[in-house]
Amino acid sequence: MPAPRWSYESNVCRRDVKERHSLGPILNPNVIDLISHNVAQTRRFGYRLGLLLQPGDIICLEGDLGTGKTCFVQGIGQALGVQGAITSPTFTLIGEYREVHQTMPLFHIDVYRLEDAAEIEGLGLWEYLYGDGVCAIEWADHIRHHLPEGVMWVSLRHYVEGGNRRGLIMEGRGERYESLLHEFKRSAFGV
Ligand SMILES: Nc1ncnc2c1ncn2[C@@H]1O[C@H](COP(=O)(O)OP(=O)(O)OP(=O)(O)O)[C@@H](O)[C@H]1O
Ligand SMILES: [Mg+2]
Repeated sequence: MPAPRWSYESNVCRRDVKERHSLGPILNPNVIDLISHNVAQTRRFGYRLGLLLQPGDIICLEGDLGTGKTCFVQGIGQALGVQGAITSPTFTLIGEYREVHQTMPLFHIDVYRLEDAAEIEGLGLWEYLYGDGVCAIEWADHIRHHLPEGVMWVSLRHYVEGGNRRGLIMEGRGERYESLLHEFKRSAFGV
């Protein structure tokens, strides 16, 4: 009997190779996936990022209640030289930290309690986003359509409910934030 021109096995093999090639790379250079084991470590991640920030930078934070968004912002604030305590802004939604000894102002925005579109307009968000300082926005996913495309997006999650471990994914979106993430990886991990 003449040999088949291609066998079932070689077909499988060829398909397998094709599928393997259609998969993306395992490591996305614009994303970093971290685990924080305690509050201090989450603050340190924020601090490391804070040291690299420039006026006009926007850091968006997304994650359930108590995942550590404010802790991360406290680290950023420490790097910028904020001396007072950074707590979640309650009634104003925006905490403005602007002291002479700081390297630049910090605008800490928490939109958790934002009710509707009219309230977003009333915030004067653009003045902060394009202002002379760094914007750190908690619950940024609530206003994602009001934000520019270029941002550092930080997602936090609980590993186990009630435990201290948190997963952090940092994604640099746009040229400035891709290179910022690159610098962050180099300064924090030497990679
Ligand atoms: N690895 C960790 N990183 C950050 N916070 C942690 C960690 N482990 C435990 N915690 C605790 O989790 C809480 C995080 O509080 P934080 O106010 O930063 O959260 P949040 O995400 O800003 O919450 P909210 O949505 O209410 O603003 C703190 O009480 C902190 O002590
Ligand atoms: Mg908070």
